[in-house]
Amino acid sequence: MTTKNRQIRLAARPQGKPTAEAFSLGESALPPVGDGEVLRRTIYLSLDPYMRGRMSDAPSYAAPVAVGGVMCGHTVSQVVESKNPAFRAGDIVAGYDGWQDYHVSNGKDLRVIDGKVVPITTAIGVLGMTGMTAFVGLLDIGQPKAGETVVVSAASGAVGGVVGQLAKIHGCRAVGIAGSPDKCRYVVDELGFDACINYKSDELAPALAAACPSGVDVYFDNVGGAVLTAALRVLNRGARIPLCGLISEYNATSNPGGPNLRPLLVHRAMIKGFIVSDHYDRFPAFLKECVPLVASGRLKYREDIVDGLEQAPSALIGLFEGRNFGKMIVRVAPDPTAT
Ligand SMILES: NC(=O)c1ccc[n+]([C@@H]2O[C@H](COP(=O)([O-])OP(=O)(O)OC[C@H]3O[C@@H](n4cnc5c(N)ncnc54)[C@H](OP(=O)(O)O)[C@@H]3O)[C@@H](O)[C@H]2O)c1
Repeated sequence: MTTKNRQIRLAARPQGKPTAEAFSLGESALPPVGDGEVLRRTIYLSLDPYMRGRMSDAPSYAAPVAVGGVMCGHTVSQVVESKNPAFRAGDIVAGYDGWQDYHVSNGKDLRVIDGKVVPITTAIGVLGMTGMTAFVGLLDIGQPKAGETVVVSAASGAVGGVVGQLAKIHGCRAVGIAGSPDKCRYVVDELGFDACINYKSDELAPALAAACPSGVDVYFDNVGGAVLTAALRVLNRGARIPLCGLISEYNATSNPGGPNLRPLLVHRAMIKGFIVSDHYDRFPAFLKECVPLVASGRLKYREDIVDGLEQAPSALIGLFEGRNFGKMIVRVAPDPTAT
């Protein structure tokens, strides 16, 4: 077995959109495995827009990655050596091991997963943090009722794709907003949304009004900015806006301003920001509802998998350019469960 651990570290805090120079690839020695500890090898690494926030030291809900520190991230790994009775060599585990080949911990942060029912990648996607975000944001905060209209931005992505499908499963009309004709076609033809608007080519406010003839009851916001501004113009009375993400603003170097909030007052609407990590008490309910949906093929998902840890910086930057098509994942090592 190798004794080297490749790691991607934060080299410098970026201004604006990150570039390759913000990252450095290095090696360290494999840490020894102490009593009660588990050594595992990363198979899949999840890349997520929130990582841009961790690269900044601006005040936020979570501590930043230190300059020189290993980039953080959810992972699916295989146990190589265990001195903890809860884990055996060969187990597949979901954890938060970051951008590196290997990691050692006491195992408190690990969950053994079973690749027989659903592929192991789902633990960092549709059945992991991003699927859970869609579940709590839509159902707990958006509180959709059958017959209502739900609109979601970044609709072909990891969170957005699940939001619209859950909205349909709960009896709603689902309308997506996405950034290319291919993505819009996928959202309607594959995921079963009722309509999808390309915010880059269509004039958003009239297109939204046309796609939502009964108005909008829930707008699940993943992007902020001009898309949020347009959605505010088509709200129904008592509409709910789960404020999930503001990806259009993550690389802003000056105050991006914000939409006029008058529609919230006029329509007695509610906007509520949420962070999925505050809602993990709902994880069992999420898995109970969504594992059967994924296993039966009713809840569909798309993964955009690139090969090689060294591809992670470019793939992360691609999230802010809409280059990904589905949940962005890096295959760091061969998947031992792949047939
Ligand atoms: N609150 C929470 O706890 C929580 C948890 C997870 C994720 N989130 C947020 O949820 C959002 C979606 O995350 P995800 O993991 O599902 O990512 P994703 O949708 O799979 O990928 C990001 C997508 O955002 C879109 N995008 C990029 N720049 C944009 C811009 N300037 N304007 C509009 N759209 C833009 C692109 O799609 P198009 O090609 O369609 O533009 C891109 O493919 C992000 O804002 C993320 O931060 C929040």
